[in-house]
Amino acid sequence: MKKIIVSAMVLTGVAFAYSDCAMCHNGGMAAKLDTMAPAQIIKKMKEFKAGKGNPMMVNIAKGMSEKEIEEAAKKYGKK
Ligand code: HEC
Repeated sequence: MKKIIVSAMVLTGVAFAYSDCAMCHNGGMAAKLDTMAPAQIIKKMKEFKAGKGNPMMVNIAKGMSEKEIEEAAKKYGKK
């Protein structure tokens, strides 16, 4: 059910807050982000922003500014 709600939100373009990465990435739906270095996350997010990769992430990345991506990478990446 959670997955359905989340997908619907992403597909309908409900404003996405970058603070919500954990919604999918700590819930077992997607890979954990704290195993990746922030620089790695930023690189991946730029690829998503360019339209490459998982469509769910492409949608999210396109809605984020570079600054938000950096902040999210720092917040969720390897400490
Ligand atoms: C709606 C669910 C959802 C949300 C919210 C979400 N992601 Fe994802 N993300 C996925 C899915 C699905 C994948 C692809 C499957 C996987 O890598 O486990 C993915 C993949 C990724 C990857 C690539 C992982 C790899 O190993 O290549 C990165 C990096 C990433 N997401 C970062 C983020 C960041 C940063 C946020 C918050 C701004 C975020 N995601 C929010 C669902 C989500």
